[in-house]
Amino acid sequence: MDCQPKPQILFTEDEIEATVRRLAAEIRRDYQGKHPLLIGVLKGSFVFMADLIRILDFPVEVEFIKLSSYGKGMESSGKIKVVQGLRAKVKGRDVLIVEDIVDTGKAVSFLLDYLRKKKPASLRLCSLTDKPSRRQVPVAIDYLGFTVPNKFIVGYGIDWDEKFRYLPDICTVESE
Ligand code: PRP
Repeated sequence: MDCQPKPQILFTEDEIEATVRRLAAEIRRDYQGKHPLLIGVLKGSFVFMADLIRILDFPVEVEFIKLSSYGKGMESSGKIKVVQGLRAKVKGRDVLIVEDIVDTGKAVSFLLDYLRKKKPASLRLCSLTDKPSRRQVPVAIDYLGFTVPNKFIVGYGIDWDEKFRYLPDICTVESE
């Protein structure tokens, strides 16, 4: 497999674990006595979701949704739709979106609108990373892991052209 360009570590496994623990503590504090529905945005959130729910250590329900937004390469097409939907009912639930990255903000902004129409009891956003320098649509992130620079981010579930999701660290790659 061609894994060029070479990723450079931005956040190590240990730093990620500490950050996921901090996020889990914040979420645990805010959802005491509740049974939230965590909705992961595929594919990038799957590693983060897997670690987060095990550290949360209280009963949560897990769902995933897949949006179409990025094509091949490094730029978002900006056209978003649901390509794999939810099975769980959202109405009346305490819903927490679990994202790997908020970049332009278009994907999660679309998803917030989409879920709000389903009348959840509450709706919040947890994102492992945020790249505010690229924002086109304002987004409030309730639980944020890392702010990242305006470089392409890979690893810990996040890809570049379907490469590098397997890396245990969060890394940057330079576009050619
Ligand atoms: C990424 C990421 C977010 C979105 C962020 O998904 O997981 O959902 O893009 O970008 P935005 O803020 O500019 O909308 P992607 O479409 O790359 O799919 P993937 O998670 O399957 O890699």
